[in-house]
Amino acid sequence: MKIIAANWKMHKTPTEAKSFFAQWKEVVPSAPQGTEFWFFLPAINLESSAVALANSDNKFGLQNFFAEKQGAFTGENSAYVSQQLGAQLALVGHSERRTLFSETDSECAKKIRYAQNLGLIPLLCVGETLEQREKKLTESILMRQLDGGLEGAARDKKLAIAYEPVWAIGTGKVANVDQIAHAHGFISAYLDRLGFEQTPILYGGSVKPENAAQIGAIANVHGFLVGGASLEVGSFKAIAGL
Ligand code: PGA
Repeated sequence: MKIIAANWKMHKTPTEAKSFFAQWKEVVPSAPQGTEFWFFLPAINLESSAVALANSDNKFGLQNFFAEKQGAFTGENSAYVSQQLGAQLALVGHSERRTLFSETDSECAKKIRYAQNLGLIPLLCVGETLEQREKKLTESILMRQLDGGLEGAARDKKLAIAYEPVWAIGTGKVANVDQIAHAHGFISAYLDRLGFEQTPILYGGSVKPENAAQIGAIANVHGFLVGGASLEVGSFKAIAGL
């Protein structure tokens, strides 16, 4: 199975989201056999997107949430409420959350457990910074993020991983084939060791129509997590090879 996931970050008004999906549903009336489209949306346009995506096989979810159903958590968003709106997914531990909002591995683990208990599919993002790569710490960082982030996660419930080298996100710098093959091979073997066999591993970081086919052909790459190029129907569709 191939998963083509969009991370819209803090982009689009509800009206813009609605018009994206109106166009999207016209050009991609149904996902080709074996391909899933996932959309990680800003909370503020989740409802309009849910309405626009009703009766389609696209999946969607929040980019971040607080691991409680409801309560005195000013400013936070509830994954439970997203589920009531039809969400099936939840993004956890994106590098922007880790660096800009100091999110820790143990907070990621809490969110993963919470999302799985709700029946959502959590997509955990992992990846090293340039400094860590240059110091040859990539594998130890990935191990730390997987050990920490998957603490207490259910092995019999769905889960996905996105490998996103931090230095390749939004920079136009794409990891090369060898770097991606090595990291995905390492993550896949490590997930097997932890008992999370069959977990899809997506690649993210400056994925564009021009490089998607080459990256998608690498062993252990089961799809993409796309930021910038997911904001336009044309480029997102082209990444899927449509
Ligand atoms: P990018 O973002 O495709 O714009 O590099 C990817 C991501 O942050 O998920």
